[in-house]
Amino acid sequence: MADHSIGDWEIPANLKRELKELEVQRLNLQGMVEDRTQQLKYEVEKRQRIELEVAKLERLNIIGQLAAGLGHEVRNPMTTIRGFLQMLQNKTDLLKYKSYFDLMIEELDRTNSIITDFLSLAKNKPTVLKRQCLNKLLANLFPLLLADAYSQGKKCIFEPGNLTDLDLDTNEITQMVLNFVHNGLEAMPLEGCLTISTFMEGENITLSFKDEGMGINPEHISKLGTPFFTTKEAGTGLGLPLCYSIANRHNALIDVKTGPNGTTFLVRFIRPKLILNG
Ligand SMILES: Nc1ncnc2c1ncn2[C@@H]1O[C@H](COP(=O)(O)OP(=O)(O)OP(=O)(O)O)[C@@H](O)[C@H]1O
Ligand SMILES: [Mg+2]
Repeated sequence: MADHSIGDWEIPANLKRELKELEVQRLNLQGMVEDRTQQLKYEVEKRQRIELEVAKLERLNIIGQLAAGLGHEVRNPMTTIRGFLQMLQNKTDLLKYKSYFDLMIEELDRTNSIITDFLSLAKNKPTVLKRQCLNKLLANLFPLLLADAYSQGKKCIFEPGNLTDLDLDTNEITQMVLNFVHNGLEAMPLEGCLTISTFMEGENITLSFKDEGMGINPEHISKLGTPFFTTKEAGTGLGLPLCYSIANRHNALIDVKTGPNGTTFLVRFIRPKLILNG
C-alpha cells in the first residue's frame, strides 16, 4: 500500500481519492495489458500453426506435381513388362515357373496401386463435389469397414450425429475414411474398438476416428502427412498424405489428439463463411 503522507503533511482527502482512483485505473490497465499479451501469444501460436500447415501443403503441392509426371512415365514401361510376363506365364515350357510369374505380376500390380495413390496427391486432380449427407456416405461404407475390423479380430462402431448436408466428392471421402480406418485398426490390439462419429461444432461438421491403440510417438506428430513417412514394416506412408490432400480439397482441417490410450483424428469441414470471418 502506498504511503500517502509526506513528513508531517497529511495528503488532503480529495487527493487521496484521486490517488486511489489512479491506482484502480492502473490495475485495470495492467489487467488489459495482460489480457492483450495473452491474446497476442495466442495469435502468434495460431500463426505459427498456420505457417506449418501452409508449408506442409506447399510440400504436398510440389510432390503432387512431381507425381503426375513421374507416375505417367513409370507406368508405361510397367504395362509393357506386365504384358510380356502374362504372355510368358502361359508358355508350356515355362509352366514350372508359374508361381514366379504370379509373384512378379502381383508385385507389379502393387507398384501400380502405389503409383495410383501417389497420383491422387496431385493437386490438379478434379474433385467432383456433390451436396450430400456425410452420414449416409458413411452408413453405405460401414458394412465394409465392419468386415475389415472383424477380419482382424477388432471392433468398429459408427455414431452418427445430426448433420447438415455437405459438398463432398464421394470417391475421395471414401478413400479418406478407408485410410483413417485402416490406420486406426492397425494401431489397436485384438478386441480394440474403433469409433467413427460425426457431430456439429458450431456451424462446422466434424468427422472423428477414435482408436484404442498405443498412441503416436510425440516425435512423429510433425511428420504425419509427409509422403512416405511410415513406422510400419509393410507400410508405404501414403495413407495420411492422401487424407490431408483430400481434406484440403474439401476445405477441411485435420487435427490429431493422441495419448497412451489411443488416438483420435478429427476432420473438420469448415464453412466458407467462418473462414471469411477469421
Ligand atoms: N491411428 C494411428 N495410431 C498410431 N499411429 C498412427 C495412426 N495413424 C497413423 N499413424 C502413424 O503414422 C504413420 C503414417 O501413416 P500413413 O497412413 O500415412 O502410412 P502407413 O499407414 O504407415 O502406410 P500406408 O501407406 O499403408 O497407409 C504410420 O506408419 C503410423 O506410425
Ligand atoms: Mg496408413
